[in-house]
Amino acid sequence: MTASASDTSGKPRLFLTRRIPEPGYSFAQEAFSVTGGERDEPLAREPLLHGVAGAEAVISLLTEAIDDAVMAAAGSRLRVISNMAVGFDNIDVAAATKRGILVTNTPDVLTDATADLTWALMLSVARRVVEGDRMVREGGFQLWSPFLLLGRAVAGACLGIVGMGRIGQAVARRALGWDMRVVYTRISGPLAAGQVPAGARWQYRATVADVLQESDFVSLHVPLDPGTHHLIAARELGLMKPGSFLVNASRGPVVDEAALVASLRSGHLGGAALDVYEREPRLAVGLAELPNVVLLPHLGSATVETRGRMSELAVRNAIAAVRGEPVPHAVNPEVL
Ligand code: DGY
Repeated sequence: MTASASDTSGKPRLFLTRRIPEPGYSFAQEAFSVTGGERDEPLAREPLLHGVAGAEAVISLLTEAIDDAVMAAAGSRLRVISNMAVGFDNIDVAAATKRGILVTNTPDVLTDATADLTWALMLSVARRVVEGDRMVREGGFQLWSPFLLLGRAVAGACLGIVGMGRIGQAVARRALGWDMRVVYTRISGPLAAGQVPAGARWQYRATVADVLQESDFVSLHVPLDPGTHHLIAARELGLMKPGSFLVNASRGPVVDEAALVASLRSGHLGGAALDVYEREPRLAVGLAELPNVVLLPHLGSATVETRGRMSELAVRNAIAAVRGEPVPHAVNPEVL
């Protein structure tokens, strides 16, 4: 159903680009006159342009590109685009700012889930969990062998983190339990001493190259923007230690996927574990055929608890914006 000018509920109009989980969905119905969001499937361009018309708030997901044309189609009543994700690379924030539209996101509530999944990826690729599972299912497991599916040690290894924000730090905190030294880099320089947990061995490095050269496992936690597109390409992969592992649960285009396939094929890298892809959901040619990769379908925040919190926060952001109240997580607060 599309918003129409004849709405009489008195509630502000919200357009949902796609179904969102509870409790956000019901919460949205209470606060807004809601259209859209009937189905859990990405919205095609035409229904998107049509659906946003006249909305004061839009709740979007990373499966829809919210560009200037969408904002123009929404019209002058649009106050807020609330993304149900921490990443907002699907939104043209500069265009929104120019139009005075607030963009919001859902950080914090998904930090632990994403850090947990990063660890699942790292352990899986290092200890060949997926290969082992496949072997057992396919009847290939004959008997224990001292040479069967040998992986690499995680405990005591060096973990490199590129992007030491909320999620990077949560991944690093978990490394304490594996007695790992952590080397990290971040755009805003070293963390303050008080941000490093007691007993943790976290060492700042000035460049991405320094982290790559030193780490047994490299985990990426940067947002996608023009500065991080192909941050890890052929040159950077070449800097990584022979036999080391790359883990990416951030955004696919941060890695040049064709270069990654070439590096894995050459035997330089020990393996890669990916939750995100450069041309999601398509994979680079050859990636799926490699045995030493673990591939997940963008599951970083995919727990019942986390998705519930994300949906609720996305609605809270939208409500605050239309009511002119303090907004929990504004991406472009300068428009306020
Ligand atoms: C995000 O929030 O940006 C994740 O990629 C999806 O939950």
